[in-house]
Amino acid sequence: MKALTELAKRRGFFFQSSGAYGGVSGFYTYGPQGATLKEHVEDTWRERFSVAEGHMEVDAPTVMPEPVFEASGHLEGFDDMLVECAGCGASHRADHLIEDNTDIEEAESLPTDEVAALIDAHDIECPSCGAPLADQPVEEFNLMFETNIGPGTSQTGYLRPETAQGIFVEFPRLKEYARGQLPFGVTQIGKSYRNEISPRNALVRTREFTQAELELFVDPEGDGPDIASVADVELTLYPASEQPDGDYVETTVQDAVDDGVVEPWVAYYLGVAAEWYETIGVDFERFRFRQHQSGELAHYASDCWDAEADVSAPGEDAEWIEIAGYAYRGDYDLTKHDEHSGESFTVFKQYDEPKTVERASVDPDMSYLGPEYGGKAGAIADELESLAKRDRAAFEGEAVTVEVDGEEVTVPVEKTGFEVSEETEAGRHVTPHVVEPSIGIDRTVYTVLAHAYDEDEIDEGERTVLRLDPSVAPTGVAVFPLMDKDGMGELARDLAQDLRSAGYDVTYDDSGNIGRRYRRQDEVGTPFCVTVDYESVEEEPETVTLRERDSTEQVRVPTENLTSVLADLRAGETTFDDL
Ligand code: GAP
Repeated sequence: MKALTELAKRRGFFFQSSGAYGGVSGFYTYGPQGATLKEHVEDTWRERFSVAEGHMEVDAPTVMPEPVFEASGHLEGFDDMLVECAGCGASHRADHLIEDNTDIEEAESLPTDEVAALIDAHDIECPSCGAPLADQPVEEFNLMFETNIGPGTSQTGYLRPETAQGIFVEFPRLKEYARGQLPFGVTQIGKSYRNEISPRNALVRTREFTQAELELFVDPEGDGPDIASVADVELTLYPASEQPDGDYVETTVQDAVDDGVVEPWVAYYLGVAAEWYETIGVDFERFRFRQHQSGELAHYASDCWDAEADVSAPGEDAEWIEIAGYAYRGDYDLTKHDEHSGESFTVFKQYDEPKTVERASVDPDMSYLGPEYGGKAGAIADELESLAKRDRAAFEGEAVTVEVDGEEVTVPVEKTGFEVSEETEAGRHVTPHVVEPSIGIDRTVYTVLAHAYDEDEIDEGERTVLRLDPSVAPTGVAVFPLMDKDGMGELARDLAQDLRSAGYDVTYDDSGNIGRRYRRQDEVGTPFCVTVDYESVEEEPETVTLRERDSTEQVRVPTENLTSVLADLRAGETTFDDL
């Protein structure tokens, strides 16, 4: 991590923000290389998860009013465990202290008092100053950033802790765009904010980060997905039943579904995800899907598989980080927003044929209830109406009993106006279930960099190289004149322009010796470098050298073929060996 973060800073991938003012923990700026790499990762995600699947993309605000988070449960249940040091005042995540100082993994799922007891029992000390943390209270700390909307304090808002809520709150409108047809999916790429207690590991735990989320709305009684397109995709699964020391299950999407290991919709997206991770250069030797244990699940999820990547250096102990969650959120979110907002978060599901259904109703005799029960008569009528819908058998005797304000009231059935009638229904309202692939873009970028990072020995000596996949590398091709004289600079600039017009991210570099220029491009992961030399300007046909980053091999290519050769290499239709 140290070598990678140093490279990232030196070469402009990412660095801590506001450095001129001492920096602020948990906020990172992507430099020119990093911003392009991140954009490429986002583009490939959009292509695979949104465009190829026929979903709709939205772009919602990052600030949302308080009632949204009352409904979503984030005000009540989006907490981490905080312990503060009495010695130096540093704040720590209590569960992380347990994981760092004991054999316990996933301490997040333990109750607060148990975590406090473990800190005492293991004599855990403050990592910042060494003071004992025993006897310090462990408290729940809500991770949302609060703000005021407009001047004054009349309207409280929060920075969204997940992009998902920006999709859920717009469901009543989005379902219209989908013409009420399930399943339909809505995607969004955007910033989310969490006031993390102890941000750490560069891009891995930050306070502002980018998520790419898909909320897929499915009919809970409908057919599952057609998984044919990803049926044979291979998955490395780590089911909850095998944790913490069991075996991985090496399987395919089809078998995972057939064996009941993964819910079909979630399995489908694990397949889509595996294909995507492969295209952006994630190393599958250092990758797995790990199922959440029941105590780990977020308040809204009934099942979740995390994509996890090992970002340790070769030869070191594995260091798994969660880079995405693939969750089954059920009807939790839509039901909550339906209850709190007064809008309908259901879809109307039309039956193939209209159905005749029986409906129980009451029409209480108020000329009897009024004189008999006075001010309670209205509440009794409401209770009778609700009981008729729930339990029509209660009306089968001579009298029916309901509870109002804690008191039992018995009413003769003949005074309730109870009746069962037949009605024709064209369909009914259902609350869709939500399947959610939720990708952390920054952690994905970090993984891509960690898996691409290498140090090797070439003829010119040791080098650091990022073996980035061409689909995400910030620079597609670098163009160098051997020297900026005798027409070489001019030809190199023309070639760079032609390649830009053909859609390549091109870096033009004429400073320093050629070896140093190659080293610079190796460090930012540029797959190919083109050099214009004397032969290029003096001989016919006009040729340039094309150098491959990974092998450092070079070949001469006629300039008129350069664009098509690069396109074939990039598409994998030609290898450098073929050339
Ligand atoms: N909508 C579901 C959701 O937000 P999550 O597991 O809390 O689920 C999804 O977050 C992904 O967002 C994570 O897998 C991770 O990649 C990323 N993420 C979450 N917190 C983060 C943080 N503090 N810094 C960087 N990435 C984070």
